[in-house]
Parts: sequence; structure tokens; C-alpha cells
Amino acid sequence: MENKIKKEFNGRFGKEGQLYASSGRINLIGEHTDYNGGFVFPGAIDKYIAAEILPNGTDKVRVYSIDIDEYVEFGLKEEDVPDQQWARYIFGVCREIIKRGGKVEGFDAVFAGNIPLGAGLSSSAALESCFAFALNDLFNDNKIEKFELARIGQSTEHNYCGVNCGIMDQFASVFGKKNHLMRLDCRSGEFEYFPFNPVGYKLVLLDSVVKHELVDSPYNKRRQSCERVAAKLGIDTLRDATMEMLDSIKEDISKEDYNRAKFVIGEKQRVLDVCDALNKGDYETVGKRMYETHRGLSEDYEVSCEELDFLNDIAKECGVTGSRIMGGGFGGCTINLVKDELHDKFITTARDKFKAKYGHEPKVYDVVISDGARKL
Ligand code: GLA
Repeated sequence: MENKIKKEFNGRFGKEGQLYASSGRINLIGEHTDYNGGFVFPGAIDKYIAAEILPNGTDKVRVYSIDIDEYVEFGLKEEDVPDQQWARYIFGVCREIIKRGGKVEGFDAVFAGNIPLGAGLSSSAALESCFAFALNDLFNDNKIEKFELARIGQSTEHNYCGVNCGIMDQFASVFGKKNHLMRLDCRSGEFEYFPFNPVGYKLVLLDSVVKHELVDSPYNKRRQSCERVAAKLGIDTLRDATMEMLDSIKEDISKEDYNRAKFVIGEKQRVLDVCDALNKGDYETVGKRMYETHRGLSEDYEVSCEELDFLNDIAKECGVTGSRIMGGGFGGCTINLVKDELHDKFITTARDKFKAKYGHEPKVYDVVISDGARKL
């Protein structure tokens, strides 16, 4: 991929720039908790976006996406926002750096990626993080803190892409570390690296290939439900809520909002349980919590879909240790913790049964936990 980028960059701009990369992410557990001030447990993966970038001495950004085969030019003022969704991610990052007092001048760029789009693996966060990291290096002497780079990506989603997301994806993409998951407290911003090497198990993603699209999606509505309940309880976020508190206002809120908050309160505890269990090498508990999360996401948070529930059922039938829908939902992947000896049979069964029902196979990705944003 890097060679393709280099060739393309040289062909278009007749020069050589600097290569940067940033990764997609998985999340072991802790879904829809980030914007509720809770905990998440993600890691960066070996699928990434790479970009070659070179300042061009003008006030224009000229960028070519190899995968989409599209070339876009835009200025750096607020009114210069490009029409193409993919270019808005880059434009947004530039604007958010500038708004924070950082420097961005014109540059040329070519980029490509191997993160499956719409699979819930955060290709957009990887794109944002790649450019935020690069522009910090190229124009700002790396003076912008790494956490701020993640926030720049998140603000890009809020202000230029219409997704009111939390911080998890951009955080994971920026801070990812080979063989480590990270437990992030989304309220304080404190985080810890956890070595992740589950001996005897594999982490596998099954992509339903149901297109996951968070832009203009019910994702923002889920967040609004949580905020309504928190406001009713007189607290900042659901991080501070308990089931007793929620039950005390049950009559004053809609059934839907109640169910959303119930999931979030349960999920907060599940992340902590999983961390404890991992420390003890207790993968059975990790797996049980994953199934509970799936159920909550499907029945209470209602972000699953028929295909993902079907994949979850197959995992259960095959005796897979843990399985659940991963990421924002509405399509995308399940993440599965599978014993080595069950792996092949599970994959074959899932492929066969899914194909028999939906006419196509799910895609299968083995998860390799890798580094996040970096200079290549
Ligand atoms: C998307 C968002 C994240 C997070 C997850 C759900 O990936 O971008 O901030 O809310 O959904 O956990």
C-alpha cells in the first residue's frame, strides 16, 4: 500500500512527502459508554490508513484518495468546506487545529487504507487521526498533546460530519499500542495499557456486511436519550447513575429512555468486570459479559440488526466463549472470543449458515492488536 501511495504521490506532485499512518480499532467491551463518561476497552488493529503529505507553500490543500479515486482541492477557511464526505474528515481536522490556535498551511496528500469501510472498525477515526498526527508533526513541532489530537478528530465528527460521537475511536487510533488494549476512563481521560495475549484463544471479527452508517443515524438519538435521563437525574452523565436512581424516575421517563439508560449503567460495570477477569486470566467471565453486552445492545439499546443477532446465535450454538456486536451498531461486525480448537469449525459454520440465510458469506478478520498513529 505504501509503495502505491508513493508512486501516486510522485506521479501527481513530482516530489516526495512524508508517510504517516493511523489504525482502525476494535473494542473488547464498553459500548456506547464513552459519551456517557464511562469506560471503554479498545485497541488499535493492524488495518490502517496511510497518507503521504508534503507542505506545498500555498493556502490550498490538494488531496487524492486512491481507494475512492477522487481528487479534491480546498482552502483552509471555514467557508471552504468540501462537498465530499471523505474530504470533510481532512478539512475538519485542519479547521479544528486552526481553531485551537495551531498552524496548518497548504499541503499535498495522497492516501489509501485497508480498513473495511462501514464495518464498525472506525476507518473515519483512522483518517482523522492520521492527518491530525501528521499536521501536528509537519506544522506544529508536535506541540499538540496526543489526547488533543484525539479530540480534534472527535470535534471533526461533531462539527463537519454530523456524528455526535464519543472519544473512543479517535483515542484508540491515536494511542494504540501493539499487543495492548487500553482501558480509558472517558470522564477523566485517564487510561491504562493492558497487555493482551489471550493464550489459547483468538479474537475474530465477523462482518455481516450490513452497511453501518452513523452519519444522520439513530446514533445521535441514543445519545440524546442518555442525556435526557442524566438531566432528569440532575447529574452530568450516566456515569454517576445507579439502577436504583434510574428506577426512582422510571415513571417520569419514556420506556425507551429507561431501557437505553439501563444498558449504559450495566455496561459500566461489565467493563470493570472484564478488566478484573482478564487480570486473572478468567476468559469465561470475559465471554459471559460479552454475551450480556450483546443482549443489552440488541434488546435495550436497539442498535443491533437481524444479521448480527443471527451471528451471535451461531456463536452461542458453537460454544464460542464470548460474542457481541461491536462499535456503534446498525450493522458492521461481531467480535468473538474463540478457543483455538473451536476457531475453524466456528468460522465454517458461521459462513455456511449465514450464506444459507442471507445469500452471502460474512467476512472474517482475525484481530491483531497493533500500534496507533505513527510516522512511517
Ligand atoms: C461509535 C462512536 C464511538 C462510540 C461507539 C459505541 O464507534 O464513534 O464514540 O460511541 O460508536 O461504543
